[in-house]
Amino acid sequence: MSQVGNSPGASDPRELLELAVDLVRAGADRVRSMRDVAATGVATKSSPTDVVTAADRATERLIIDRLRVLRPGDDVLGEETGVHRGPDHRVADGPDTGRVRWLLDPIDGTVNFLYGIPYYGVSLAAEVAGQVVAGVVRNPVSGEEWTAVAGQGAHRNGRRLSGSTVCELSQALLATGFGYDRARRAHQARVVADLLPEVRDIRRLGAASIDLCMAADGRIDAFYEKGLAPWDLAAGGLVAREAGLRVTGLGGVPAGTSMVLAAPLAIHQALHDRLVDLDAAGGP
Ligand code: IPD
Ligand code: CA
Repeated sequence: MSQVGNSPGASDPRELLELAVDLVRAGADRVRSMRDVAATGVATKSSPTDVVTAADRATERLIIDRLRVLRPGDDVLGEETGVHRGPDHRVADGPDTGRVRWLLDPIDGTVNFLYGIPYYGVSLAAEVAGQVVAGVVRNPVSGEEWTAVAGQGAHRNGRRLSGSTVCELSQALLATGFGYDRARRAHQARVVADLLPEVRDIRRLGAASIDLCMAADGRIDAFYEKGLAPWDLAAGGLVAREAGLRVTGLGGVPAGTSMVLAAPLAIHQALHDRLVDLDAAGGP
């Protein structure tokens, strides 16, 4: 287990990535070891289909406990337990304090995990002064691990990534996802119904952080989804951006809850404009 720069408060992005990788590997081991009992401790969150398992909770606890020891001054935002503040946050808060915040999704793709579909990931990113500077997403089943450092490129298990070379929207394989709220899903389904005849095909793979990494990898051409939380977007969004994709929202809004669109430059505008026409960021 690496300790960042021998100094608990250091914020060099490469060192933050090193630590993130150690933590995510430990988290992925925990997830794998709990797969046989995946269906235990299952509870629901925002809707009857939005599940959390004992493995989500145990993995989040493991990573946050280690962060609290190794980086006691940092803030953490975890999907299952919310905000954990480091000390002195009132003094240190502010846009340029250099304060580090970790964004953690212990299992992105929990429904896949529950059903034994091997497409889920542990996602951890480090943000400094509000900018994501380092991130890692690991699939515990396949061992695929995507990493990125701001300004230094994106990699899968050491191989540099550069996205797909698709030039036309009609030839693009897209991925998207759906929220847990019924009304939101109905709106998202209408958007998909209109878009589907205009592209090569659309996948609903089930883990947004990995979808973003797959787009970085060129194994899908582009990804969009409305309603992602910060922990879904942080690490995978950096991986996609560092692979050369444009990662935005719609109409000049940055990527965020209202929309995440990650696409190669050659098709970004066309897909953006189509999503605007279809009011993909609208609805509930
Ligand atoms: C979900 C997955 C899914 C996406 C949802 C997310 P979770 O995360 O990333 O692919 O469509 O919007 O909430 O609940 O499995 O951590
Ligand atoms: Ca999750």
